[in-house]
Amino acid sequence: MNNNNNKNGKTMVEKRMNMEQGHWVLAKLGKKVLRPGGKALTQIMLKAMNITPNDDVVEFAPGLGYTAKLALSHHPRSYVAVELNAEAAKRVQDNVKDDKMKIVIGNASDTGLPENSASKVYGEAMLTMQSNPQKQAIIAEAARLLRPGGLYGIHEIGIFPDDTPQEVRKEIESDLAKGIKTNVRPLTLAEWKGLLEDNGFEVSFVESKPMHLLETGRVIADEGFWRFICILFRMLKNGVARKRVLEMRRIFRKHARHINAISIVARKR
Ligand SMILES: C[S@@+](CC[C@H](N)C(=O)[O-])C[C@H]1O[C@@H](n2cnc3c(N)ncnc32)[C@H](O)[C@@H]1O
Repeated sequence: MNNNNNKNGKTMVEKRMNMEQGHWVLAKLGKKVLRPGGKALTQIMLKAMNITPNDDVVEFAPGLGYTAKLALSHHPRSYVAVELNAEAAKRVQDNVKDDKMKIVIGNASDTGLPENSASKVYGEAMLTMQSNPQKQAIIAEAARLLRPGGLYGIHEIGIFPDDTPQEVRKEIESDLAKGIKTNVRPLTLAEWKGLLEDNGFEVSFVESKPMHLLETGRVIADEGFWRFICILFRMLKNGVARKRVLEMRRIFRKHARHINAISIVARKR
């Protein structure tokens, strides 16, 4: 693992996972799939990215390493994960255990990796939590890393329709931020596409799914029946975590007519 320092030598990484944040509450209960569209949308995104043994892959924010394992099962020539959080990076290394995997502990907006060194870059459930300038910087970094023709895949929270009123969006952001306890700034499909196009990408694939991350059917599909039962059991024993999960689900349901999970794959021009 490499530590990624900024020009002043100051570390930019987060050392510890903030266990208050919704994704780590879910992870602590045993949930492995933490991205909005679940396993199905991840698999659809990976199919569109078509990782082969000729690929040099960079993943932004591998989290617990769920997609890392799927990507590595295609035997790319190289695989580098860039994770901001040192504790999460240690977990991903322990979970994935693959000699090919390299981890940079640092910010996806400034990876320190060489220009034109990747043919495929992807990141899930990590852009939505960034401010607009950070989103812009991370997408620009993906463009810098990719060789022309290379693919960038994202899997994030979307707002629909494109003309959703600003006051509705403000309420969604505020509810999601309170529920997940981190910044949550989803964009419309037109805005996600616009950000990619402004950074030299051409969108080649789009797919969306309902925001059903915490609905029973999706949890069983993502985690399997027995892990679902274990998660339920841990929720029964842990009142604080139970309250958090039910509150997040309430918010997802409240805004179901305006939020979804969206995956876009774009080609560097
Ligand atoms: C919601 S989790 C998603 C993890 C994983 N991609 C998944 O879908 O299961 C968000 C992860 O993004 C990481 N992260 C957030 N901002 C980042 C950044 N700017 N650069 C690298 N990693 C980042 C966090 O540390 C955390 O591990």
